[in-house]
Amino acid sequence: MYCQPQSQTQAAEPLNVAKIKSDFPIFVSHPDLIYFDNASTTQKPKCVLETMSTYYEKQCANAGRAAYTWSSQLEKAMEESRRVVASFLKTEATHLAFTAGATDSLNLVCQSYALHNLEDGDEVLLCPKDHSSAVLPWYQVREILKAMGKNIVIKHFDIHEVGDYDLKSIKNQLTPKTKILAMSHVHHVYGLEMEVAEIREIVGPEVIISLDASQSVGHTAVDLSSQGLPVDFVSFSAHKMLSAPGTGVLYVSKRVQDKLKPVRLGGKSKAEIVEGELSQTHSTVAELLEAGTQNIPSILALAEAVRYIESIGVERIEAHVSRLTVDLWQKLAGLPGIEFAPGIGICGCDRGWGIISFRFRQLSSMDLSFALDEERIFVRSGDHCIYNKEEAEQDDFLRVSMHLYNDENDIDQFIEVLSGCLS
Ligand SMILES: Cc1ncc(COP(=O)(O)O)c(C=O)c1O
Repeated sequence: MYCQPQSQTQAAEPLNVAKIKSDFPIFVSHPDLIYFDNASTTQKPKCVLETMSTYYEKQCANAGRAAYTWSSQLEKAMEESRRVVASFLKTEATHLAFTAGATDSLNLVCQSYALHNLEDGDEVLLCPKDHSSAVLPWYQVREILKAMGKNIVIKHFDIHEVGDYDLKSIKNQLTPKTKILAMSHVHHVYGLEMEVAEIREIVGPEVIISLDASQSVGHTAVDLSSQGLPVDFVSFSAHKMLSAPGTGVLYVSKRVQDKLKPVRLGGKSKAEIVEGELSQTHSTVAELLEAGTQNIPSILALAEAVRYIESIGVERIEAHVSRLTVDLWQKLAGLPGIEFAPGIGICGCDRGWGIISFRFRQLSSMDLSFALDEERIFVRSGDHCIYNKEEAEQDDFLRVSMHLYNDENDIDQFIEVLSGCLS
C-alpha cells in the first residue's frame, strides 16, 4: 500500500553519498551537477563504463557464433549476466529474455503473448495515466486483432487523487471476459508503489498481469520468487538502473511460457525449415524471444550494475531515496504557489520512491526547467510520456526523480534556486 510504513528499510545504514559520487565519472567531470532526472535515465558507475569499454577495446567479438575463445567466453559471460539478473530478482535465468529496453519488453508481451491468446470479445484492463510504452501497444494489438476478425475491448481503470490505482474501478471493470491487466509497479510521475498483491486478489488467479517495473528495479527489492510479486510479465530497462541504454529485460512466468510465440526469427533462433515448413524447438524464453546479435556490451554491463547495486544494498538505496523524497516534499511544501501532482505531495505518506511532480501557479514548468538548467540542475518537464497529450499538457508538471547519488545538499540548493526563480 502506498502509505505502508517503511519497516525494515528505515533502519538501514545511511549511504556515504560522497563515496558513491566518486564512483560515477560524470560527477567527477561535473562536480556542480544536480541530476534530478533519474526516472528518465540514470548516471553510470565506473564499473559499468569499464565493462563496456573492455568489450570494445579488449575483447570485441560476436557472442557464441564462432569456435574461437573470445566468442565462447562472451557467450558464457552473457549467460552469467542473465544469472546475475535472475538472482537479483529471485527468479531463474530461464524466465528471462534480454530485450532492447522496457518499451521493447512491453511490446513483446503484446506481440508474443496477447496477439496469439486473446479471443473475440476478450477484455484488457489498463490505466491511461500509465507510461505510453505500457499503454499504446495494447491499442496496436486491438487494431491487428480487428483486422483478423477478433474484436477485443480495452477498458480503463483510474488513479485516485492521491496517486495510487483506484482499486474499486478495477473491481467495477472486471468481467469473466477480462484476460489481461497491465499496470505499473512504481508510477513514473506520481512516484507511488502500486498495490500488486491487492490487485491480484481482486482480479483472481486466472487474469494475466503485465507489470511495468521500469521505476522499481534497482530502487526497491523486486522479488519474483513464488512468495514475491504475483505477476506473469515484468518489463524494465537497464539504463534506468545505472546501466546502459539498448538493453532491457522481460520476465515471463512459468505458466505462460508455452503460450508465447516468437516475434522475430533469425540468427541463433531455435528454428529451421523442414520440408518447406517452419519448425521451432524453443525451450526457454530467451531462445524464443532473442534473435540476432544482442547488445553484448550493454548486457554485460547490466550484470555489473546489479553487482554494484548489491554491493551497496538495494534496501539501503530504497531507504536513502525514501528519506530524500520526504525531505524534498517537506521543503517544497513551503514554497509559494506550489501545486503537487498526485503522489507524496497529496497523500503525505512517510516514505517515497524518489519521484515528486509539481508545478507553480505563477510560472510555467518549462520556463522553470530552463532556469534550473542554467544552474546545472536537471529536472524533467513536458508531457511525461502519458499518451493522452491533452491531459498531459494540461498537467505541465515538473518532475524531480532522485537516486542513490543525490543528497540533502542537492535538495537544499535546488530549493534555493527555485525560491529565487519564484520571488
Ligand atoms: C514507467 C515507464 N515505463 C516504460 C518506460 C520506457 O522505457 P524505455 O524508454 O527505456 O524503453 C519508461 C521510461 O521513462 C517508464 O518510466
